[in-house]
Amino acid sequence: MGCAISGLGLTPKSGRGMRHAEPAAERLSPEQIDMIQESWKVIQEDIAKVGIIMFVRLFETHPECKDVFFLFRDVEDLERLRTSKELRAHGLRVMSFIEKCVARLNQLDRLEQLALELGRTHHRYNAPPKYYGYVGAEFICAVQPILKEKWTPELEHAWQSLFLYVTGIMKRGYQEEEEEDYSTSGGASKRERPQKTTTAL
Ligand code: HEM
Repeated sequence: MGCAISGLGLTPKSGRGMRHAEPAAERLSPEQIDMIQESWKVIQEDIAKVGIIMFVRLFETHPECKDVFFLFRDVEDLERLRTSKELRAHGLRVMSFIEKCVARLNQLDRLEQLALELGRTHHRYNAPPKYYGYVGAEFICAVQPILKEKWTPELEHAWQSLFLYVTGIMKRGYQEEEEEDYSTSGGASKRERPQKTTTAL
């Protein structure tokens, strides 16, 4: 289960004051964009597998994330999830989002729109920003063995930068949704209101 990963702050420890505690996302260079797009061609062949590995690892290392998913929160034996149709479907949704990000690296305004909206939906799912950094780290651990000797420290840095960039925008979307929610509810956050329904799995 172990996975060596160099630190770019993908797994932030801080929960409060995230807006200021986050490492700044670096702008991806054209070389990094090429590297990511090239490696994606290999990863793409195993997306269902990567999606499952990534989420099983996430739930193993950070069980508090599992609690956010209605369908998975009561699953004790994580090995069972490796064959779960629901986790496979969810993993594929997340991987297709990553695929869209990779395809839009040359159209950052479109990528930003996509990530902002995803951050907003994560507010509705009750999935707070303090957990987002974990996903990039688990993605990297899941794809490293697939890329074998093609994996380099530069490629790792490029993927880390992409996740930092995307999750930074997701956090903004989450916060915007939270602020709107707060102002339309006259001061009580949606989470505090009893009629809250969630579309989460
Ligand atoms: C890089 C970070 C993440 C990305 C790119 C991501 C991506 C996605 C995508 C693409 C979806 C499906 C969107 C949709 O159908 O509306 C989704 C749904 C969801 N995500 Fe995330 N996610 C991230 C982090 C997290 C984390 C850390 C959690 C929990 C702690 C989480 C919880 C959820 C939940 C509960 C759903 C709803 C599942 C459903 O009802 O189908 N996400 N996520």
